[in-house]
Amino acid sequence: MNPGTTSAPLLSVQGLCVNYGTDAQPIPAVTDASFSVSAGDIVGVAGESGSGKSTLCTALIRSLPHKARVRGKIIFDGRSLTELDASEMRGIRGKDITMILQNPMTALDPLFTIGNQMVEVLQRQRPPLTGPLIKTAIEMLRRVHLSAPELRVTQYPHQLSGGMKQRVLIAMAAACSPRLLIADEPTTALDATIQEEVLLLFRDIRDRLGTAFLLVTHDLGSIKRICDRTIIMYAGRIVEEGPTAELFRAPQHPYTQALLASLPHLDEDEISMSSIPGQVPNLTQLGAGCAFAPRCTRALPACTTRQPREVSTGPGRRVFCLQFEGTA
Ligand SMILES: Nc1ncnc2c1ncn2[C@@H]1O[C@H](COP(=O)(O)OP(=O)(O)OP(=O)(O)O)[C@@H](O)[C@H]1O
Ligand SMILES: [Mg+2]
Repeated sequence: MNPGTTSAPLLSVQGLCVNYGTDAQPIPAVTDASFSVSAGDIVGVAGESGSGKSTLCTALIRSLPHKARVRGKIIFDGRSLTELDASEMRGIRGKDITMILQNPMTALDPLFTIGNQMVEVLQRQRPPLTGPLIKTAIEMLRRVHLSAPELRVTQYPHQLSGGMKQRVLIAMAAACSPRLLIADEPTTALDATIQEEVLLLFRDIRDRLGTAFLLVTHDLGSIKRICDRTIIMYAGRIVEEGPTAELFRAPQHPYTQALLASLPHLDEDEISMSSIPGQVPNLTQLGAGCAFAPRCTRALPACTTRQPREVSTGPGRRVFCLQFEGTA
């Protein structure tokens, strides 16, 4: 659960690459991403829009569009997910690994009641649940503190607010006690007080069920509040990782430093990542060097000619920046 734990990780991702383009015209959305998540860990993934966060998550559950080409290893609980066939993967998806999608407004089917949709999820559980599943669904909604759960199960998605729908999705994602719950921007569409409640709900699920979380967000405030560890992505690559408190106290990568420096009020609710001078690079025009070099105030000539290597800078801490090479 904490950084430094030595047991085999629940999830181990090694050299993951996702290309949406072709060899001739690559769109490298994720490049050489390696990281791990231990049981009960809450790991945050942050980075500007287009940095590859959703692609990374979707690759983990093998739900990318067909044209996407994936390389690298994804080991979950000792099994290599990239080598499973579609039916074996379906057995893992929605049971051991569940995902809450970026857009809660479209994730529920408008034609079915909340109760119908929850019962359908519950029916897939193994071993089968006993007793009336609608009662279980109501109890699950109560656990995520949704008001009037008996009424909600009879309602259709359009009769619920955005925050209510998000709670339903969280209840469904947690229904089968997954070992890993991937949440892609789960609070972006919600107002600040509901955001806070959703984060507390995640922590409650982790504490109650031992579920590990991969929490993707633009909102560094959310990460600071609940994540044990934080991964920062830039242009498809992981640029820094560390225990959250340390990473926020002493960011090492110039990009992480710029992100944090651009957020003077980190304890306030609304935190955006839009104020770093310069543009996020076009993935089809990346050069040989560090993608952040054109925006980096400390770039060296070598930064534009080759990729930085991973440098370990302390327990659970690593950074990809030429400034650190030779100093570790
Ligand atoms: N289906 C697709 N086909 C081609 N390119 C894609 C596709 N999906 C994503 N991309 C590109 O891959 C890159 C990474 O996109 P992704 O959605 O993973 O980023 P993100 O970090 O989740 O962004 P956001 O914060 O806006 O959700 C972007 O440049 C995007 O344009
Ligand atoms: Mg995204």
